[in-house]
Amino acid sequence: MALWDGRFSGGPAALMLRFSESLSTDMLMWRQDIAGSKAHATMLRAVGILDDDELQAILSGLDQVAAELEAGWQPGIDQEDIHMAVEGRLAALIGAPAGKLHTARSRNDQVNTDVRLWTREQLDSLDADLRDLIGALLDLCQRSGKTLVPGYTHLQRGQPVWFGHVLLAHAWALSRDRERLADARKRVNRSPLGAAAMAGTPHPIDRAMTAALLGFDGVLENAMDAVAARDHLIEVCAACAILSGQMSRMAEELVLWSTREFDLVRLSDAWSTGSSIMPQKRNPDAAELVRGRTGRAYGALMSMLTLIKALPLAYNRDLQEDRPALFEAVASTRSCVQVLAGCYASLQVKAGPELRGDFSLTTELADWLAGRGVPFREAHHVAGRLVKRCEARGQDLSSLSLAELQEEHPAFTEAALDALDPAAAAERRTSRGGTAWSEVERQVALLRASLGELNAV
Ligand code: ARG
Repeated sequence: MALWDGRFSGGPAALMLRFSESLSTDMLMWRQDIAGSKAHATMLRAVGILDDDELQAILSGLDQVAAELEAGWQPGIDQEDIHMAVEGRLAALIGAPAGKLHTARSRNDQVNTDVRLWTREQLDSLDADLRDLIGALLDLCQRSGKTLVPGYTHLQRGQPVWFGHVLLAHAWALSRDRERLADARKRVNRSPLGAAAMAGTPHPIDRAMTAALLGFDGVLENAMDAVAARDHLIEVCAACAILSGQMSRMAEELVLWSTREFDLVRLSDAWSTGSSIMPQKRNPDAAELVRGRTGRAYGALMSMLTLIKALPLAYNRDLQEDRPALFEAVASTRSCVQVLAGCYASLQVKAGPELRGDFSLTTELADWLAGRGVPFREAHHVAGRLVKRCEARGQDLSSLSLAELQEEHPAFTEAALDALDPAAAAERRTSRGGTAWSEVERQVALLRASLGELNAV
């Protein structure tokens, strides 16, 4: 029996039932649905719409429904959604009082309440996942960050940096993802409950009370907005998409770095796979899947944006499509954060390539001259000519003699050759945010503090 049987003489087509049900996705948020109903019933008692006996019957009946769901009860799809399934089961268990629970509410405010509660919880879990990932990067930085690697631009060697400098670049990006998600949470955590269908209700309800009971920061002031708004979910999907894009960059680096060509890191067995035919293979599948899964959050964001485009106020059934997209965005993002944390926690950093004499030290020659008053543009040309000389004879910067340096510029002295030390080059970059180890340590402390941790491994 449907809740609207009073008006209808025929039932829905079987395909219509299957096409229109949201129960299968709603099952992820049955706990939120029960919590919302309990808060609503408690408020109905406080304002005199329910008496004590009715409230008690409803609360214990909802506990019973929750226990059955916990034990694996799967409502049939003729119930359409979780709200109807819970209310229908409650009516079967407690009879008449169940019929009063829907006073002053509609599934339109109910569904939005459930999704907001679910999303809030997921955002908190995602933040915990992100803290773990950032923590893994910081641990790795403190454990193995003092390894010299080429810093790349255009995927060409640029200047030598400490590996920790690279790890922290990602840690900062992820800490902005935390900020974005925390900001979205503010818009998520507002109560639509009591908006009813979209016009409010003649009953003397207390929306502030249900909001407080459910831990919301306040109510959505306009009942029509309260049932129609999905911008908060677009924000969550957008934050997940941005985070997923960031993680795809990290994943791509892990793939590159673990190649024989780069040979900077080794992913542990736990996060690698082998080949069924090539015995030597050690494939970075975990990182590849993180890279590949990015599309899920991007797709979810596009679905969510499309969902509300030109949608008239207030509730439209289209809005039921919010959950598959939202759930996909959150689940795929969380799984990638967790997998990357595992990869970094067990990542072995190799010795790093030989950088002595490497052309990535050429900037040192230019900076050396600039530090002695030669205009940087001129110094750049001088250093460029020195590279050309080395390249012409198939050698690197370590082949340069002082005489050759002086042929290109008279200001060069023996000390300029000493500048061609990769560790010293990294350590000279003490400007704020530079790669010098003191700066790496300063940033680790800042990031640890943002996680509420002490500066220790
Ligand atoms: N199953 C619906 C959804 O998930 C619940 C709200 C239905 N409201 C309505 N007026 N048909 O969005």
